[in-house]
This record gives sequence, structure tokens and C-alpha cells, in this order.
Amino acid sequence: MAEINENYLKLKAGYLFPEISKRVKLFTESNPGKKVIRLGIGDVTLPLPPSIVNAMKLASEEMGTSSGFKGYGPEQGYSFLIEEIIKNDYKPLGITLSQDEIFVSDGSKCDTGNIQEIFAVDSKIAVTDPVYPVYVDTNVMAGRTGESGVDGRYSGLVYLSCTKENGFQPDFPKEKVDLIYLCYPNNPTGTTITKSRLKEWVDYAKKNNSIILYDAAYEAFISEPNVPRSIFEIDGAKEVAMEFRSFSKTAGFTGTRCAFIVIPKELNGISSNGEKVSINQLWNRRHTTKFNGVSYPIQKAAAACYSDSGKKEVRDNILYYMENAKIIREGISKNGYEVYGGVNAPYIWLKTPKSMTSWDFFDALLNKVQVVGTPGSGFGPSGEGYFRLSAFGKREDVIEAVSKIGTLSF
Ligand code: MLT
Repeated sequence: MAEINENYLKLKAGYLFPEISKRVKLFTESNPGKKVIRLGIGDVTLPLPPSIVNAMKLASEEMGTSSGFKGYGPEQGYSFLIEEIIKNDYKPLGITLSQDEIFVSDGSKCDTGNIQEIFAVDSKIAVTDPVYPVYVDTNVMAGRTGESGVDGRYSGLVYLSCTKENGFQPDFPKEKVDLIYLCYPNNPTGTTITKSRLKEWVDYAKKNNSIILYDAAYEAFISEPNVPRSIFEIDGAKEVAMEFRSFSKTAGFTGTRCAFIVIPKELNGISSNGEKVSINQLWNRRHTTKFNGVSYPIQKAAAACYSDSGKKEVRDNILYYMENAKIIREGISKNGYEVYGGVNAPYIWLKTPKSMTSWDFFDALLNKVQVVGTPGSGFGPSGEGYFRLSAFGKREDVIEAVSKIGTLSF
């Protein structure tokens, strides 16, 4: 028999979201007819905006003509989309990028999961805790960790705790690390970072020859001024960071799939013989070998997010979700919960009442009022005692969930 990659056996149970779905499925099977409100996984619920649908339709029709048909496209993405990304997402921030510094892909989950492949197996990795589980699990799969301990942490990984005690701001690693995953606005805590703190991270990375893997998938939800939208707003960041962006939450592409990574040419790694190696070129090699590009209609749809009508429609959807976030934040805190996030991010992070464990609170909410959220401990040990509610639900469901949670006493 073929021997398996034993690193997979180190993984804890199932991936967080399928695990939640499994529990919800069990509940619905034994309680048929009971309406369950899902504010767990951050999956959008509004339909795709009309400008995007229209662009997708036109592009599909074009593909059905002999003059408009396209086979394989450029693996890195069509220039019509990359141009729009640079012009709309980066130029207004004073950031100059060239087309070959952007790699269009089918999602930030894949990108943040795959990126570790181009780094050494013995790279030291730092993650915030709680954290988007993909960063951890993919490094476990690659063999960069030992087993997980009783504290729920994998040996070999450096965890940077983010709790209310430190304002959800991680301290710098106490030991030298090679790669640091940062996500702002943060999933799951919904909190943000200041420009001055981000500058300190860039300086830290420079001093320690580390690379920051900056996940900015929720950038479009920033509502306050002076919150950095891109790590490249910080001087010197191009030498130490790459950035992940996605159309998933921004424009409702969770089922449509389109994202991109920005890898500046200034960013280098080092080979074992001490030579500098361009991370951009390394990723280009990986991307063109393992990926054949996002389909033409989907890239046309993504480009339509930057048209005048597309921009407005996308913004309207974001405002809708952020109004949901406000309803959850205010409604839940009126009921005495300690609440964080939800101002510059579509996630509300709350402290469980009476020090309940995150999964106990999950079960209580599911069984008593049929509201599904995400247990904080599923994002890492420092998430224990916290719970995440997503603002991506339908308005009426969000209002109902808040009012039902308000009926509970613990
Ligand atoms: C989440 O709920 O954290 C996200 O939806 C997960 C994802 O984007 O893969």
C-alpha cells in the first residue's frame, strides 16, 4: 500500500467549518422543521450585483463565438483585470505596482494555503492566535509542526496571542521567525491594526529577515479613516511583505471564485547557499505550473466590480452587511455581552457569558434558539471563551437572531 503523508494525521478533527456544518446537520435531522439561522461561516447571502452578472453573461456569450472564444488564458490573470486592480485598489493609496506583481487566482483560501509551498520546510512560522485555520493547517500538512499539545497548540509554530487583555494586538515573536501571517481587518476578531503598529511590524520583519504574509481579504469593510487598507501603504513594506486580496466577501464571489496576490519584485527569500531569490519569480513558477488561470467570464465579472455601476452596487452590498454588523454589535451588547469588532470588519467577536467554553456556547445557541455562530476556540486556543458571529446573513435573519439571543439567560 502507498504510504501516506503522516502530517495529515496530526490535524485536529475536521476543518472548522465542515465540523460546524456536521453538528448543524445532526441538529436539523433530529429537529425537522426548526428554522436554523446561520451566522457561522462568513459566506455572503446577497445575490451578485447586476453589473457583475451582466459582464459574466456577455463574456460567456463572447466565448460562444469564433472570434471571441478563448482557450487557456494567462495563468497570472488577464491584463484587463490586473489594470483595474492597480488603478482602483492601489493607485489611490499612492502605491505603484507593475502588472507582473499581481497573480489572479481562484481564492484567498487557496492562495494563503498554497503560498507556504515555496518556503523551506524548516521555516519558522508565526501566527496570531486566534487565526484563520488555513494558515495553521496547511503548515501542519507540509510538515512544519510537531503534534498538537494539550494546550491545543502545534509544537514548532509560534503563536501570538490576541485577547482582550492585549487589545487583540499580537506582540512580536520572542524568537526569530521566517514567516508571519497577519490578517487585517482581522478574521476572526474583526479588529484592525493602526498604521504605526503595522510600520513596527514592517520594521520588525526587516530587522529579522522575515516575510509578512498579509491577508487583506476584508479591506473593503473598513469604515474608519486612517485604518491601513494595504500593507504597501507602509514605507519599506514591498521588501518584506506580500498581500492577499479577494473578491469573495467584497463583491459576493464566494461561489464565483476570484482573488489575487500582490508580490512585489523587491521581495526576496534566500537559498541554502545564501543567494537571494525573487519570491515573485518563485511564485510565478509555482503558479504557472499548478494553475491554469481563472476563467475568462469570471475575470470579466471581477473587472466589472470596478466599473462605475459595479462600484456602487458592490458598495451597497458592503453597507448592507455593515448595517447587519451594527445591528448585531449593538443588539448583543445591549444584552450585556462584551463585544468586539464589527466596525471595520463583517465579524463580531464576543466574550461568552459566565466563562462558558466556546463550544458549550455554540451548543446552547444552536439548541435553545437555533442560531449558528463559530466557536472562538476553533480559531486557536486563545479564542477559547469567545464566539464569532458573521454579519453576512440576510437582514431579517440577523434581526431575528439578535432578538432570540436576547431571550437567553446564562
Ligand atoms: C470564515 O468564515 O472565516 C471564512 O468564510 C472562511 C473562508 O473565507 O474560507
